[in-house]
Amino acid sequence: MILPTDPDNKKTYVRDKFSSISGKYDLLNSLLSFRMDSYWRWRTVRMLKGSPAGWVLDLCAGTMPLSRALVRGLSGRRVMAVDFCFDMLRAGIGGRAGVLPDNIVPVCGDGEKIPAATASFHGVTVAFGVRNLGRTMDGLREMHRVLKPGGRLLILEFSRPTAPVIKQVYNFYLNRVLPKVAGLVSGDRDAYEYLASSIAAFYEPAELMRMMEDAGFSGVKRVPLTFGVVSVYVGEKR
Ligand SMILES: C[S@@+](CC[C@H](N)C(=O)[O-])C[C@H]1O[C@@H](n2cnc3c(N)ncnc32)[C@H](O)[C@@H]1O
Repeated sequence: MILPTDPDNKKTYVRDKFSSISGKYDLLNSLLSFRMDSYWRWRTVRMLKGSPAGWVLDLCAGTMPLSRALVRGLSGRRVMAVDFCFDMLRAGIGGRAGVLPDNIVPVCGDGEKIPAATASFHGVTVAFGVRNLGRTMDGLREMHRVLKPGGRLLILEFSRPTAPVIKQVYNFYLNRVLPKVAGLVSGDRDAYEYLASSIAAFYEPAELMRMMEDAGFSGVKRVPLTFGVVSVYVGEKR
């Protein structure tokens, strides 16, 4: 599949795709990841333990599974959940996960122009969202801007396993099995071909970490999970 190269075309494409699968997103996520997605989010939330209570920004929040995991796993947190796809937020308000806790505030907005004042949040999280941004550097600079000094950024994102056998099994699953199953369940096979193509086209871990540093983050590190199928990238604002 050929991905849109123009950033604005990519944003329109991404918003439309998530809108079309919004009602099935949570079900497909847990089905296609064999429920590993909840574990990956849980590991991400744990990395914010010890940060001060208060506001956290969950960017590209979608149906807000990470926002829910944040308020469940950490006490005294309020989450601003930002996504530019209204249908994803709406699906997350009354969806499979039940009533939205009142310490999560959904906001429809663009991650490349975050609708929040400078130095507003103790933490910023982004799960499976950075890959979908039209302009990655703009998004990273915005995440840095809205963090308070001492605040932490956590990016949970797909990476590509490198161990020979695991890599082959993973690629077969991602490119052959997943789009078929997801297409049958969601009615939009194209959306899941986009998933495989966007993972293949995404930055190498070292490159993403360099971009985080260029955006102003310090102490940047990567924690690979599940043979490197996903990674959590951590950065601090000094
Ligand atoms: C794969 S979903 C991830 C949802 C959720 N974070 C999770 O853990 O499942 C990616 C989300 O990023 C959102 N997104 C992509 N680009 C965005 C942007 N520029 N601003 C805000 N949201 C964006 C999409 O609308 C979509 O809901």
